[in-house]
Amino acid sequence: MKIVIVEDYKELSAKGARLILDTVKQNAYAVLGLATGTTPLGVYANLIAEREKNGTSYAHIRTVNLDEYKGLPADHEQSYAYFMRKNLFDGLNIDHENTNIENGMAADEAKECARYDTLLQQLPRDVQLLGLGSNGHIAFNEPGTPFGSGTHVVELAESTVKDNARLFADISEVPRKAFTMGIRDIMQAKKIVILASGANKAEAVRKMVRGAVTEQVPASVLQLHPDCTLIADKSAASML
Ligand code: GLP
Repeated sequence: MKIVIVEDYKELSAKGARLILDTVKQNAYAVLGLATGTTPLGVYANLIAEREKNGTSYAHIRTVNLDEYKGLPADHEQSYAYFMRKNLFDGLNIDHENTNIENGMAADEAKECARYDTLLQQLPRDVQLLGLGSNGHIAFNEPGTPFGSGTHVVELAESTVKDNARLFADISEVPRKAFTMGIRDIMQAKKIVILASGANKAEAVRKMVRGAVTEQVPASVLQLHPDCTLIADKSAASML
């Protein structure tokens, strides 16, 4: 794993955006794997600002997102589909038909997971952006998820529900289940960029980079990827 330690969140966001932009500029038809959570927000703001300045086109870019809460429709303000439109897609000239995310309202879970896995095979990702959960999760793959997993429905860990409650009016509103890309799916991306910011991620960063490769720390699997870059600010990297 390539490790880039930066001064602060601003630098992390600029560096992360640069790596995504390199892919977009090399291939106008690139497939981007995108993430939600608060960490990538700065990267997305940079991509929008860069497009405003230089007119970079996303007309043919395709995207696949990592995960979606189960039970939230795409127009719900807490859904990840809504998050992506608001924080990225609406600021780019991307064709919404070319953006993909699991359907949180799908009644048949198995069918939805199979649909998404088929889609991932049809759209091999040139780059996959990731955030890191404080418990070492990637996407919604909680500790204990098999490394061979494809898209599946998960019961969120109590720590994840608590972490994400800050974004909801009340913890009781946080969905307890989600659809998520599996670890095998994530590892299939040609290139991976994982972002970590803040002291509350320091322990997870240490385990991911220096610890054993174990299903108990899902992000540790990234040690096995041939082209993975971690961008961490000083606080997140403080235990390395
Ligand atoms: C959620 C998402 C993850 C994200 C994590 C960390 O659980 N499913 O993809 O990486 O939160 O979020 P944040 O970046 O807000 O710390």
